Amino acid sequence: MTTRHIAVLAFPFGTHAAPLFTLVRRLAAAAPDLRFSFFGTAKSNATIFSKPEGGRSFDDIKSYNVWDGLPEGYVFSGNMLELAEFFLKATPDNFNKGIAEAVADTGARISCLLTDAFLWFAGDLAKEMDIPWIPFWTAGVCSLSVHMYTDVIRSTTGMAENTNQTLEFIPGMSAIHVADLPGGVLSGNLESPFARMLHSMGLHLPRATAVVINSFEELDPTIINDLKTKLQKLLNVGPSNLSLPPPSNSDDSGCLPWLDKHKNASVAYISFGTITTPPPNELAALAQALEASGVPFLWSLKDNSRHLLPEGFLERTSTTGKLVSWAPQLQVLARASVGVFVTHCGWNSVLESITGGVPMICRPFFGDQTLNSRVVQDIWQIGVRVDGGVFTKGGTINALDLLLLNEKGKKMRENIGVLKGNAIKAVGFNGSSTENFKTLLELVTI
Ligand SMILES: *[C@@H]1O[C@H](CO)[C@@H](O)[C@H](O)[C@H]1NC(C)=O
Ligand SMILES: *[C@@H]1O[C@H](CO)[C@@H](O)[C@H](O)[C@H]1NC(C)=O
Ligand SMILES: *[C@@H]1O[C@H](CO)[C@@H](O)[C@H](O)[C@H]1NC(C)=O
Ligand SMILES: *[C@@H]1O[C@H](CO)[C@@H](O)[C@H](O)[C@H]1NC(C)=O
Ligand SMILES: *[C@@H]1O[C@H](CO)[C@@H](O)[C@H](O)[C@H]1NC(C)=O
Repeated sequence: MTTRHIAVLAFPFGTHAAPLFTLVRRLAAAAPDLRFSFFGTAKSNATIFSKPEGGRSFDDIKSYNVWDGLPEGYVFSGNMLELAEFFLKATPDNFNKGIAEAVADTGARISCLLTDAFLWFAGDLAKEMDIPWIPFWTAGVCSLSVHMYTDVIRSTTGMAENTNQTLEFIPGMSAIHVADLPGGVLSGNLESPFARMLHSMGLHLPRATAVVINSFEELDPTIINDLKTKLQKLLNVGPSNLSLPPPSNSDDSGCLPWLDKHKNASVAYISFGTITTPPPNELAALAQALEASGVPFLWSLKDNSRHLLPEGFLERTSTTGKLVSWAPQLQVLARASVGVFVTHCGWNSVLESITGGVPMICRPFFGDQTLNSRVVQDIWQIGVRVDGGVFTKGGTINALDLLLLNEKGKKMRENIGVLKGNAIKAVGFNGSSTENFKTLLELVTI
């Protein structure tokens, strides 16, 4: 049998490349005779490949750098979207070059394209090469459905941004309001390269051999059953984190022993992911709420944002709180003492919260985050959006009270406990995600 050589095309921004890499590691571990070439920019490659787990390198996964599309002498404006748009302009030529290099390098032709779903043009590449195209959607099924139904949403709403209107005309989405939609669907610049990319993606995904997603079937059965009628295959294979060996992430700041000194479900864990920091006035309001409520907290905050905290805050809360610049999130959320996760509602964070069984206080910022927070609050009922959508001292105190002290909070904890149980079953022996992963493995091995 000739070597199976899988080209993996990453979208090298935000939290996109890391989950794709996680998926590739799972595949590589399950089928050691597969060969993977992983294409990203030099910058994303350096972050992803610099952390060999437990000293193990990735012999079967070779990285290739593709051009980031930046003009010579480019100075970063601080706008991440601008970087993404330069990159998109350089596609697919930059990937084609990389693929040619990998084929020359290994002498093995590409047998399958596994790509971030954003890179919809990979459907054309795969067709030219006569091989399967398997896109990976790094967020939840609700946002996937929004992008698949963009034309329907645009025509049904007549493009009117009546923010009260709900999407009851899409299966499983009747609780979603127009105001929850990511920018570029109805609001914002619909002709921006990014908005056009998402629109094209929705139109092209039905051509894919299978769409892979880091979620599990029991989480959104109605939406999933509907999408299955539109896609050739929809493979929920998550939560990825539950299927991997426990990470050897260091806990240099001693988060875990600190958490273990607290009562069950009493601590607020706060983190807004790797890219987002709330505006200064909201950080201050959140800090004031923590101080006034006396709720014990573990706060993961980048060093360069510390100066935004109110003066003397750290000294005054030194007995109730702990501030770190990084926390081993998955392990933190699995600790019994963590009672609430204050989060931006990025998909990976939502899924990790479910995995840990911890209800959420959501302060969404962009992309699918508002949509996710709606689902968390109104469909799964495992958390709340902060009042008015932004942190105020009073609104945050109310939310902390509700989740940590109130019967409603207790109910949310029960609800998320049920989802957690389903997630564990899904990745267990003959669970739905386990079976879907087997199907994926067959598809990349043919
Ligand atoms: C969990 O998965 C995400 C995305 O796949 C990854 O970035 C993160 O490092 C994982 N966390 C752990 C603790 O394995
Ligand atoms: C990707 O990054 C890793 C770690 O920084 C490095 O060892 C490797 O050579 C890089 N690959 C390419 C193609 O530059
Ligand atoms: C939105 O709904 C609220 C409450 O149902 C109502 O008071 C308000 O007038 C509605 N706004 C619009 C623009 O329809
Ligand atoms: C705290 O949670 C742990 C793990 O869920 C459980 O075993 C233990 O009984 C709980 N302790 C109390 C006092 O409820
Ligand atoms: C999974 O395995 C268990 C135990 O062998 C069995 O009871 C159950 O019916 C199986 N479920 C499916 C969906 O095959």
